[in-house]
Formats: sequence, C-alpha cells, structure tokens
Amino acid sequence: MLQSGTVGSRDFSNSTQPVAAACTAVVGLQWGDEGKGKIVDALAPTHDAVIRYNGGANAGHSVQVGGERYALHLVPSGILNPGKPAVIAGGVVVDPEALLKELDALSARGVDISGFVLSDRAHVVMPYHKDEDALRETMLKNAEGGEIGTTRRGIGPCYADKANRSSAIRVGDLIRPAVLRRKLVVIAPFKSAVLSAMGSGPRRYDPHQLAEQFERLGERLRPSITDTVYLLHDMVTNGSRLLFEGANATLLDVDHGTYPFVTASGCSVLGIPAGTGVPGVRIGDALGVMKAYSTRVGGGPFPTELQGDVAHRIRERGREYGTTTGRPRRVGWLDLVAVRYSAMINGVNALVVTLLDVLSGFEEIRVCTSYQTPSGETRRFLPDGDALKAVEPIYTTIAGFGEDLSTVRSERDLPPAARAYLALIEREVGVKVRYVGVGPDRQQTIALS
Ligand code: IMP
Repeated sequence: MLQSGTVGSRDFSNSTQPVAAACTAVVGLQWGDEGKGKIVDALAPTHDAVIRYNGGANAGHSVQVGGERYALHLVPSGILNPGKPAVIAGGVVVDPEALLKELDALSARGVDISGFVLSDRAHVVMPYHKDEDALRETMLKNAEGGEIGTTRRGIGPCYADKANRSSAIRVGDLIRPAVLRRKLVVIAPFKSAVLSAMGSGPRRYDPHQLAEQFERLGERLRPSITDTVYLLHDMVTNGSRLLFEGANATLLDVDHGTYPFVTASGCSVLGIPAGTGVPGVRIGDALGVMKAYSTRVGGGPFPTELQGDVAHRIRERGREYGTTTGRPRRVGWLDLVAVRYSAMINGVNALVVTLLDVLSGFEEIRVCTSYQTPSGETRRFLPDGDALKAVEPIYTTIAGFGEDLSTVRSERDLPPAARAYLALIEREVGVKVRYVGVGPDRQQTIALS
C-alpha cells in the first residue's frame, strides 16, 4: 500500500486520495435476456452517459416506454433518454449495416439519436464473419457435442480476428479508405480460401467491393466515431456518472460462463475495464439482474430446465422468444447455485429480480439451491459445460402466489408469498434485492427499501 508523503525524490502526496467510484454497472446473472435494458432505461436519467462494453448484434434489449416497444441490439438502451451520450466502447463488435439500420429505425420513430457515440477501436463484423459463424454451426450440428446455437451474427469469428490481429478491421479503419483497402486486399483472398476449404463451396470475397461498401458505411458513421477512452475519462474527471450496460450475461461469459456454450466476450463486470478503458475502481454500484426463473437460448447445459405444461406456461406468460432470433427460449426454475456464482464473479451489491409477475398462479414454486454431483452435494456452480451436464438440481419448494402482480407499484402491496420468494433469494445469494420487475413497462418496476 502506498503511503502519502515523499519517498526519496518522489512525491506521493496524492496517492491516498480516494478514487471517486460514481459509476454503475448493470449485468445479467443468468444466460441473458434478464431484462437489463429496462433497468438501464430506468437508471439512465440519474447518469450522464450509458455505455455498451461487450458483445454485438447478438444482444437483444427490449424497452417499453408508454406502450411503445423498442428492441435494441447494438445501440445502448440509454438512447431512449434524449441527448444523453449513448456510447459503444471498444470492446464491442459492430456490424455497421445492422447498426445504421437500428439508428435509422429509432430516428424514424422520433427518438433523438444525437447522443450516439462509437469507439474508433471497436471491431467490425464483416460478411465473412457471419458466413463463418453459420458454417461452423452447420459443421457442429451433426457432431457429438452439438452446435453452440449461436445467433449467427458473426460474433465469435470477429472476436477471433481481433485476437488474430492481422485479419481484423476496426471502426477507425472505416474512415481511412486507403488503410481499409490495403487491409482488405490481404484479408479477402485469405477468407475466400479459408471458407471455401471449410466446405462452403467456392467463395470469393471481393476486396474492392467490400472496401467500397464499408467505406460508404464508415462515411455515414463518421460523425459519431471518436476515441471513447478519453471521452469517458474526461467525463469521470468532470464528475460525471457513467452507466455500463452489460450485453449477454455472466453465464455466457467467455472466461467464466458455461464454456464452450458461451459467447465470445467478457459479459460480466470484469469486462468493463477491458472493454472501455475505465478501471474497475470507478464502479461503485454493481447491479445484478436476474429473472425470477431461468431461461437459456441456444445449446448447452441447463440443470433446472423444464419441459411440458409448466415450461409452456412460463414461456407464454413471459413472452420467452428471442429478441434477436425469435427462437423460443428454453425455460426452467430459478437456479440459485448459478446466480450465487454470478453474483460472486461480478461482486454485485444489489439484485434486480425481473418478471416476478410471470410466476403468479403456480401453487408452488421450486428453486434450486444446491446440486447433486457424481461426487456428492455441492452449493458451488460448475461452469464447465460437461461437468454441469452431469449435475442434478436439488430443490427447495415454497408456496406460490395467486395474485396478479402486474398492477403492484409498491413493496407493501406485494403478496406475502412473493415477499417470501424474494427473501429466499436474498438469503441464498447473500445480496439484497433493490428492484423488482412486474411487467415490461417503465412503470412496472418496484423499488424495495
Ligand atoms: P453468439 O454470441 O451469437 O456467438 O452465441 C453464443 C451463445 O450465446 C448462444 O447460445 C446464443 O444463444 C447465446 N447468446 C448470445 N447473446 C445472447 C443474448 O443476448 N441473450 C441470450 N443468449 C445470447
């Protein structure tokens, strides 16, 4: 620990000054689609900017404002708060065509998009990334482990190229035509050869056609492109409060999720420093968003997964169909072993429980609090895909609530059984619940004391 004062010729008098930790993180604690967009939208008015730091157009955040529903994929949910900076930081992978389509659609509906900002260091999802994503999934379909069930938005191949470096294109390259063309002249034939060899049939990506297409997209994005690292640090220095919006979720995190059935980015709070350049010590409030039950899209182990009537009822009441792909989501009882693990990874200091209204009408509700594994019972999560496949959930059963919660607006109006459910979550996870969602609208969020 550095002490204040002078050591030798160096002055450390500033070294014990406290770091202002005025930033907030909102992250998903399950397999995505927890309702983070709605919480970000609710918190945006008390923050000065909303920042996406990971993932790409694979994410789907829905926000409902006054009966109008907005489905956002790349644009931060904070865009619905007029004039506020809505930032895509360098850790995101950007499909420029999808991004412009989204911005145009928002604009056409009267949303003020003037606050939109895009990092020059974000990586660009190219057509060959989407083709490769689809090809890999097709190859895996008949393999023993099965496909990952990706969104086929090119996310994995784009992040792979980021790590490869020599085959990567960054947003800053889109507004430097000579650089873009120089890179594509090398990359396009390489991708043509690789994808043809992967069995796609003969494929030829034309570097000049790609250069023209992406230069045009870059020109349209040019006014929004900037160095977001300095932008964010300048804001922090000036006392601004930043709100970081996690995409996908902790159990899909490339390092800490149910590997290999994960996405390709850092989706937890740990992804924020890497994805934005803002250090973790600036984050004073980390909110973990979780559904009152579990869902998963795509492949991979899911210990509490349900089939039959209960699954059907939750899926229909919760409108559990993918925002990005429209796929029906797999549904299951709440897995608190998983949530406890995610809360630990993220260091969350408050929970947000969403979609509690969906559980109305069940006589009893089951909650998984530990796993039976081949070597005994455990309260620890097993993020390895194969290990997790082998566990059996051990459930605690509690009384359900018959009342419709969608019109409840205050804590005291929550039925006792619903409160008991929230208390069980708090006890098992060891973190307080701060907000409860009882419907999709902005108004349907209850703050707990
Ligand atoms: P990818 O991100 O398209 O590569 O997909 C990898 C896995 O993450 C698949 O199982 C997807 O269904 C899942 N996934 C990616 N993004 C989201 C999300 O925002 N919500 C839910 N699942 C997601």
